[in-house]
Amino acid sequence: MNERKTLKINQDGHLEIGGVIARDLAKEYGTPLYVMDQQYIEDMCSIYAKTLQDEYGDGMIAYASKAFSCKEIYRIVNAMGVGADVVSGGEIYTALKAGFPMEKVCFHGNNKTLQELNLAVKEKVGLIVLDSYSEADILNDICKNAGVFQKVLIRVNPGVEAHTHHFIQTANIDSKFGFSIVSGEAEEMILHVKSKSNLDLQGLHCHIGSQIFEQKSFVLAVNKMTDFYKMLKDRHGIEFPVLNLGGGFGIWYADGDAKKKLNDYAEYIKIIAKELKKAVVEKGLIKPFLILEPGRSIVGEAGVTLYTVGRIKTIRDVKNYIAIDGGMFDNPRFALYQAKYTVIPAERAKETPALKYTIAGKCCESGDIIAEDVYLPNMNEGDLIAVLSTGAYNYSMSSNYNRNLIPPVVMVKDGKSRYAVKPQTYEDIIRNDI
Ligand SMILES: Cc1ncc(COP(=O)(O)O)c(C=O)c1O
Repeated sequence: MNERKTLKINQDGHLEIGGVIARDLAKEYGTPLYVMDQQYIEDMCSIYAKTLQDEYGDGMIAYASKAFSCKEIYRIVNAMGVGADVVSGGEIYTALKAGFPMEKVCFHGNNKTLQELNLAVKEKVGLIVLDSYSEADILNDICKNAGVFQKVLIRVNPGVEAHTHHFIQTANIDSKFGFSIVSGEAEEMILHVKSKSNLDLQGLHCHIGSQIFEQKSFVLAVNKMTDFYKMLKDRHGIEFPVLNLGGGFGIWYADGDAKKKLNDYAEYIKIIAKELKKAVVEKGLIKPFLILEPGRSIVGEAGVTLYTVGRIKTIRDVKNYIAIDGGMFDNPRFALYQAKYTVIPAERAKETPALKYTIAGKCCESGDIIAEDVYLPNMNEGDLIAVLSTGAYNYSMSSNYNRNLIPPVVMVKDGKSRYAVKPQTYEDIIRNDI
């Protein structure tokens, strides 16, 4: 486990998060339960924002709220002076209702609907990131009618193949996102958007993928993007004041992932800042306002999901299953891309592992697994287990599959806990049924 001040095993072998014992949280709020360490989120925001300021200067961290979106997280990151990246009308609406400043919002998406674009313009979203010709045309019409000159970026694809799971790579040549730089399609789109009366093209955006540890992937992205900025300057006299390099910084989930202390995460920003400063000087470019959009690394390790062990099934000489009271409806990441997790017995974390288990969810689906080949002490029905690093792409990817209730989210800080998202009820589930 990647221990820190706000995530540790105490002397009695109990997991503690944010100064609260996991068992006490389970008793008070029930299971399954998402627990979020607020201090960790705040620390990550301030480390990123400060490093960007110190190492680069003009720029903004825009928390990629697809990783974990609810009103409380927008309040927390806003209080830390961080902006937000959103990808849907629902995320815009949630941020808005949390009082988030819309000028600090960057709106992405490869197929934004008319309704979403209208909402973004009406609510004065700071930057809209275009991903198609028709989107540019539609947005221009909306802005013309509204008398708005909308700041936009274009999503481009620099062709960087990051070493991460295929489903979370986003900048290889056949990606569904962005215009390829290499094929010339990005250049054509830039000229198209430049011709639009009500779109103010500020620069370009790329995002090479997620859960990337290799610094050289980010260095490569900086160089491909600045080479392209230089080409645009030389060929068309276009100079962009903004560059958005997306997010994607890798975090610790399980053995095999680099264990980072909070301050180690600053390295990702430092390396990008250093490379970009060097590139703009060498290529004779204006130093752009730099936007970075980390999501996973701000909230991922902040999260722990607590489950109660239910049935235990032993298939002699084959497998030991532990069934928990959650599953793919609160964490679909194993089912999606065999994501790895660390599982610990939350009340007996100092006991020696005795058996190899597979942690199965309660959904009617064989692929409903949370983790495979986990070594734990002999487990019994009623035991509490904790799955670590579940703060990103868990709650935000949850569903009511099998009409299971989405677990509540509890924020912990300084030994206190409170709901960030209340528990669902069966009434919530049938609310919109006719
Ligand atoms: C455009 C964009 N920005 C930022 C992110 C955040 O990436 P991560 O959570 O890996 O930091 C994503 C994630 O897919 C993305 O698509």
